[in-house]
Amino acid sequence: MSDKKATLTVDGIDEPIELPVYSGTLGPDVIDVGALTAKGLFTYDPGFVSTAACESQITFIDGGKGILLHRGYPIDQLANQSDYLETCYLLLYGELPNKEEKEKFVSTITKHTMVHEQLARFFQGFRRDAHPMAIMCGVVGALSAFYHDSLDISDESHRQIAAFRLIAKMPTLAAMSYKFSIGQPFMYPDNSMGYAENFLHMMFGNPCEPSNVSPVLSKAMDRIFTLHADHEQNASTSTVRLAGSSGANPFACIAAGIAALWGPSHGGANEAVLEMLEEIGDVYHIDEFVARAKDKNDPFRLMGFGHRVYKNFDPRAKVMKESADEVLAELGIVDDPLLAVAKRLEEIALEDEYFIERKLYPNVDFYSGIILKAMGIPTSMFTVIFAVGRTVGWIAHWHEMISGSYRIGRPRQLYTGYTQRDFKPMDQR
Ligand code: ACO
Repeated sequence: MSDKKATLTVDGIDEPIELPVYSGTLGPDVIDVGALTAKGLFTYDPGFVSTAACESQITFIDGGKGILLHRGYPIDQLANQSDYLETCYLLLYGELPNKEEKEKFVSTITKHTMVHEQLARFFQGFRRDAHPMAIMCGVVGALSAFYHDSLDISDESHRQIAAFRLIAKMPTLAAMSYKFSIGQPFMYPDNSMGYAENFLHMMFGNPCEPSNVSPVLSKAMDRIFTLHADHEQNASTSTVRLAGSSGANPFACIAAGIAALWGPSHGGANEAVLEMLEEIGDVYHIDEFVARAKDKNDPFRLMGFGHRVYKNFDPRAKVMKESADEVLAELGIVDDPLLAVAKRLEEIALEDEYFIERKLYPNVDFYSGIILKAMGIPTSMFTVIFAVGRTVGWIAHWHEMISGSYRIGRPRQLYTGYTQRDFKPMDQR
């Protein structure tokens, strides 16, 4: 924080309004506009493009330079040298764990992977063809009905146990939502396995045979979780904070985050990428789709391109692209038609004036969609996997908010509707 000031002059208000300006450790200064309401003014910023809604110490992004830091550590270093659960510890507690701390954390998470047997029955209420994200919104919210012992949000130990349960049970619930859709029995977690390996075991294993999860694929899945672990105040994280600001319980808040993530402009983009690649079908149709993406009268957009914050490159996409190459090599996939479409689209985005001018680079979802498809993950599960990885980010932000000072989130509006008018009885309408 600093003692800088901004001065605002507004037509019709005699005195200039002085507003405090704060500096963070990184990033642009922010103007505290809290005093404007006393002057009868609000700020107007649809989509929150210029609004810092909170103070946070978890994640920093410089979209222009393509920088993403978790607690100060660059994402590529975490993705290449750490693993998902260590990154979870870092996001939750602010520091990398030492050996004992890591072992204890991993063991705690591992011991919470099973879900209540009654919760497993919950799945039977869904249609067999329900989208797994629809199921996840329901079953994650339902956790609050099962864990009454962790619902006092003012109690630090309750917040901790809720965090452990959410991180541990998300892969189990995600795999159950898939198994339900294909009519296979749910797999219990195998706690001798690592986090990502266990998830793949629950996704692809069956009770009749021993699981055989490839270490290369487990590593790639762990990396996908790590790369999605947090991303500052995005739509779903802001949703979790807003829901949490009313004092709602953490399971309900995370269910709200899952709902916000589902949309194709956010986490749903990885699924939309694959659907788009399948719709394009082969490289001969690409020009037609690129022309549609550039046509202002056509709502079509190239999924997996562009980002609200990254106007250079998405540092996660760089690591994800390396992972995609590794996975495709491991699986011996070389001449897949969808991959050929993806590669050509990537070339176009880097060459075409339209994309260059608007700084529309392939984003993390573009490459994660390709890896997940190669791993045999059904398209409908892509956003669920994003939700599993992002759970720690949501819970870290929720915890940061609840353990500090906060007020209920209550945005205002620029009202452009009718001015006051008198009610008309039915016979005069
Ligand atoms: N294809 C074609 N044109 C695009 C695309 C795209 N994918 N994305 C943006 N544009 C164009 C817009 O039409 C606009 O053009 P104009 O200036 O001529 O009107 C310009 O680029 C700026 O677009 P905005 O919508 O203002 O950018 P915004 O920052 O609001 O949107 C978003 C970012 C939502 C990610 C957008 O780029 C998009 O819809 N991309 C496709 C969906 C996607 O991949 N989402 C994943 C995001 S990453 C994540 O959530 C992990």
